[in-house]
Amino acid sequence: MHGKLKNVILTEDDKKFVSTARKILANKKVQLMKKFTQHGDISCYEHCIMVSLYAYMYAKKLKMKVNVESLVKGALLHDFFLYDWHDKAFTPDGLHGFSHPYTAERNASRTFRLSLRERNIISDHMWPLTLTHVPVSREAWLVCMADKYCSLKETLLKNPY
Ligand SMILES: [Fe+2]
Ligand SMILES: [Fe+2]
Repeated sequence: MHGKLKNVILTEDDKKFVSTARKILANKKVQLMKKFTQHGDISCYEHCIMVSLYAYMYAKKLKMKVNVESLVKGALLHDFFLYDWHDKAFTPDGLHGFSHPYTAERNASRTFRLSLRERNIISDHMWPLTLTHVPVSREAWLVCMADKYCSLKETLLKNPY
């Protein structure tokens, strides 16, 4: 038996999530992330979308007050490094695992107008690997946690989503 059907009501925050994501994802450079594999069969583009969804979902579940626009921008651009790390472990910025947050932050701030908080979401997402770059905002913590969860799923499961 199915329960009673209900209309889905989009909140103002949900609408902000969608409108911000649309703007970021429409960018040609962001579309390039489709070409690069992140984990398994998942591209960087798909990975960033899933991280943004999980980060937003956590914020809702935990009833956290967040800046939705910053959360979405930071999440969608957190892996905007634009190369295949499987054949480029050493980059001009350093070893991929440690350096890609800064490469992504540079690409993102050259492509979009970003606040300091949004730049920090990107640069601090690999903490604790990048020891001194501890997330400093709620949005940065949410993206850092969602990224770990999604990365684990993508690495371990054949059909993660
Ligand atoms: Fe990353
Ligand atoms: Fe990531």
